[in-house]
Amino acid sequence: MDDDLDAVRVAFDDETGVGTITMDRPDALNALNGQLRAGIIAGLQRLEAENEDADGVALRAVVLEGAGEKAFCAGADIGGFSEESAGASSERDHYEYIRDFPAPVIAKIDGYCLGGGLETALACDFRLASESSTLGFPEVNLGLLPGAGGVQYVTKLAGPAVAKELAMTGEYISAQRAADEGIVNRVYSDEGFEDEVDAFVADLAGQAPLAVQAIKDSAHMAVQSGLEEGLRYDAKLFGELLETEDHAKGAAAFNEDREPEFEGK
Ligand code: CAA
Repeated sequence: MDDDLDAVRVAFDDETGVGTITMDRPDALNALNGQLRAGIIAGLQRLEAENEDADGVALRAVVLEGAGEKAFCAGADIGGFSEESAGASSERDHYEYIRDFPAPVIAKIDGYCLGGGLETALACDFRLASESSTLGFPEVNLGLLPGAGGVQYVTKLAGPAVAKELAMTGEYISAQRAADEGIVNRVYSDEGFEDEVDAFVADLAGQAPLAVQAIKDSAHMAVQSGLEEGLRYDAKLFGELLETEDHAKGAAAFNEDREPEFEGK
């Protein structure tokens, strides 16, 4: 597994419970080759292992970012994606791994976020972008469509007109336009970006982790199911959370007018 970590850097802060995976191919604008895709999965597995000996939930949130000044990720590595994608469908890919990961994953977008890079960000739970970032689906210029669900995701977030506009024209949009369309959660000034992202992630990491996991689960269910099935599912999750120590801690803290300290139990 350590070989798989060659194209990424992985860090874990045991004070905050925040893990960081840095896609580390800055000379190629962090384009996704096989090694980087495997690295993202291996990085998530390494971070998930922080929970193994923990009393409760140690890993509270994961930030996914790109190394260098210019890009989150400029998409699939154009040199080699045809052979990779031919063999990729049988395995659980990094998009699916991020989507199903128990802790929330935050795409920290600073620069180009294109093609498979945008699809990687769309598989994450949150997209936080600096105002000078640029997003888009250039695949049509290569005679392709976004192959990892880009049209599906953007249609659900922003509607079919926006999804078709992005994927059919291949034109890039600003972070602000992406936020206006509901594709990006927050846009921050370039100067304040690092601090604002840290504050957002710290807040998220301080929330009750079992409730956060259940909410992620519920949101996925809402996208895939009808309302009746989704409501039944949420009622089941709610019943389970009522039994947790975190719920008791949250209620006690409210009654005593202080901040709770959740443990994921
Ligand atoms: N794959 C491989 N290498 C890439 C790359 C990519 N997707 N994007 C950039 N690079 C490389 C460039 O080849 C260049 O390498 P060299 O210095 O060795 O020449 C380096 O990164 C820097 O890039 P540029 O010099 O092009 O930087 P720029 O600032 O002039 O332009 C850009 C930036 C507009 C993002 C331009 O690099 C670009 O258009 N990149 C391709 C974007 C793209 O089409 N992505 C979609 C790929 S398809 C896909 O993603 C679908 C899928 O999942 C299957």
